[in-house]
Amino acid sequence: MSFTAVPQARLRLNRSTLAVPGSRAEFFEKAARSVADVVFIDLEDSVAPDEKDKARKNAVAALNEIDWGRKTVAVRINGLDTPYMYRDLVDVVEQGGGRLDMIMMPKVGTAADVYAVDMLVTQIEQAKGWTRCIGLELIIESALGLANIESVAAASKRTEVLHLGVADLAASLRARTTGMGGANPGYTVLTDKRADGRRDTHWADPWHYALARLVVAARANGLRPIDGPFGDFTDADGYRAAASRAAALGCDGKWAIHPSQIEMANAEFTPPKADVDQARRILDAMAKAQKEGKGAVSLDGKMIDAASIRQAEAVVKKSELIEAGGASASGMRHAG
Ligand code: COA
Ligand code: MG
Repeated sequence: MSFTAVPQARLRLNRSTLAVPGSRAEFFEKAARSVADVVFIDLEDSVAPDEKDKARKNAVAALNEIDWGRKTVAVRINGLDTPYMYRDLVDVVEQGGGRLDMIMMPKVGTAADVYAVDMLVTQIEQAKGWTRCIGLELIIESALGLANIESVAAASKRTEVLHLGVADLAASLRARTTGMGGANPGYTVLTDKRADGRRDTHWADPWHYALARLVVAARANGLRPIDGPFGDFTDADGYRAAASRAAALGCDGKWAIHPSQIEMANAEFTPPKADVDQARRILDAMAKAQKEGKGAVSLDGKMIDAASIRQAEAVVKKSELIEAGGASASGMRHAG
């Protein structure tokens, strides 16, 4: 291990993040009763400019009046380049901060963007005398944000999550996309000719670079990496495949832009029972090995060592959190 220890963000269940437009107050109760781990009320792109004030008021009312149970609740504020953002932050935190777990920041470009929001939230918390610490979720969805991702990820102790915002990222990169978060028939590899002269076309994942980079930046800073939206909510197989590949890369969860995607996210990001059982066996075998003074031993014909313990512990910890059904106070690096 490096001599540098990486403090971990507060441990939260974050398999599914349901997006709810702030202007659609009729969705709020349904969102609260859903099985989503996290719900965010959106004040940004799903809300038309004329509806911004109403959506902000709806969000404050929802934080105060709706029973969200053990869910993590977030509000997505408007971007720092808009005339709405300061009012979003001040009203939502001052008036709804008692139940607000996280502020979601869109289109983060630089560490200074995060610094500015951290400073304002800190002032409000101090003025209110609150000791609990509201977290930040940062959406990486521009060339600037992706280029600066390491410094953005390290900018504030409040930050808990990095999300990949695929639609805005594609627009910023001028990338050709056909669907939000899906594959693209233009992004393929054509194989060489086989003996019979045939060639195969393999579809590749146009989001791989950005997602892998985001996972590295998040984990290097103790944050949760979360995959963004998949727009075609009628394509369940497409959603499951996207979620499965994000889980394989190391993400903790994925957005759901429609209730039909929540259970698929929860399933894809829950470690399979066989993996949890195997992780427990590894921990038992390593505990026995350590007593016998051995560093590496074999289990079922495969080598296991100290690195296997860390992987196994991560799987077991996640499974315990799922059984407990929500956020945990452990792993916090924040005061309060
Ligand atoms: N949260 C809670 N409930 C929702 C919901 C949401 N985001 N989206 C739909 N529902 C509810 C509907 O009210 C409906 O309930 P009912 O069966 O009791 O009438 C049910 O789920 C099925 O909804 P459906 O008719 O299929 O969807 P819709 O046409 O009303 O809405 C969207 C489709 C995409 C507009 C809507 O799901 C939505 O606004 N999603 C979030 C978009 C967003 O926040 N984008 C920003 C982030 S990318
Ligand atoms: Mg966006």
